[in-house]
Amino acid sequence: ARPLRIGLIGAGTVGGGVYEIIMNRLGGGGGSSSSNTTAGQSSSSPSNNHHRSANLHPVITKICVRDASKPRTFHIDPTHTQIVTDVASIINDTDIDLVVEVAGGTTFAKDAVYASLKMGKSVVTANKALIAENLDELIGLIHDVNTKNGVKFGYEASVCGGIPIIHTLSGGCYKGDIINEIMGICNGTTNYMLGKMEEGVDYNEVLKEAQALGFAEADPTADVEGHDVRAKISILAKLSFGTTVPVHTIPCMGITNVSVIDFAYAKSMGCTIKLIGTATRKSQFGEHDGALSVYVSPKLVPNDHPLASATGCGNAVVVNSANLGTALYTGPGAGRYPTANSIVADIMRVADSTCPSAPFPLSSSIEIDNDYESAFY
Ligand code: HSE
Repeated sequence: ARPLRIGLIGAGTVGGGVYEIIMNRLGGGGGSSSSNTTAGQSSSSPSNNHHRSANLHPVITKICVRDASKPRTFHIDPTHTQIVTDVASIINDTDIDLVVEVAGGTTFAKDAVYASLKMGKSVVTANKALIAENLDELIGLIHDVNTKNGVKFGYEASVCGGIPIIHTLSGGCYKGDIINEIMGICNGTTNYMLGKMEEGVDYNEVLKEAQALGFAEADPTADVEGHDVRAKISILAKLSFGTTVPVHTIPCMGITNVSVIDFAYAKSMGCTIKLIGTATRKSQFGEHDGALSVYVSPKLVPNDHPLASATGCGNAVVVNSANLGTALYTGPGAGRYPTANSIVADIMRVADSTCPSAPFPLSSSIEIDNDYESAFY
């Protein structure tokens, strides 16, 4: 098969996992298992560019790093992959079909993602902050470049890294249903910290442990202040309700004020404490037909509630809907291979032309009315 040439931006924890899976496990580096890379259904996309042919063979031809001399936790094979330090050499490379952005942040990464899309390259990213902060603008851009060039956009890894929640919500599983509420433990760092605090370990000690595990953001403020969950719940709200809820309008309380003593009170009520992003339609007389309220806060969660099952760095999402009732999606939400697995799945969907053209729903007329009204059970 003809290669799908990938430019990878970022060579940290997740970038290393993507590189290893594509180049070593899936044969992108010339290994023996190239037929595996073409798994999936062939379909002939109507697009008028390089993505027309199905079953391409993904190869990472360039990797953009900040410092080429920095030691890495994975081996970059120079026969297949060129290390570059200027992102323009990926964006302007007409041989590169797909850009994978795992650098993070909302300035450099935003410029790189927008420029790549405008150059007619598909993009796969794990960048929840970038997506959430620019949702409508990005959806417009994706629509334009898809219409013009058949460009695709994959973002499965942006929310609950290892749980296929984006695909579940955008892929039609709830098409004949009405979602009333979605609640998520979407941050592994704080879930780990709260679990340890429940065992009596002090906040500052446990933050250091969480950072050492490699789950925390470069600046852990985004984790502990709830900003990471806020970005993720705004994406989940868009997918569940069609409404764009600007991130800065979402009431957000992190875990910095939670202390060990709070767990003693929670325990006395048969509860634990979790940091939860909630998007819920307000109800009157039992009907969830009111405005949409989105917020992030620590919550008392009864020990037998489905969300109490997410322990350690685990993530969990509960969807309450009219037909299905309560469904729980749980699994690893961060870390090298779980997150890389979702990125690779998106890459493979670009490679075999099964990546959706319209990855976000159309806007809805549901109004927004954010408040803390129901922040605690
Ligand atoms: N800092 C995030 C977390 C990484 O702890 O869940 C995954 O988005």
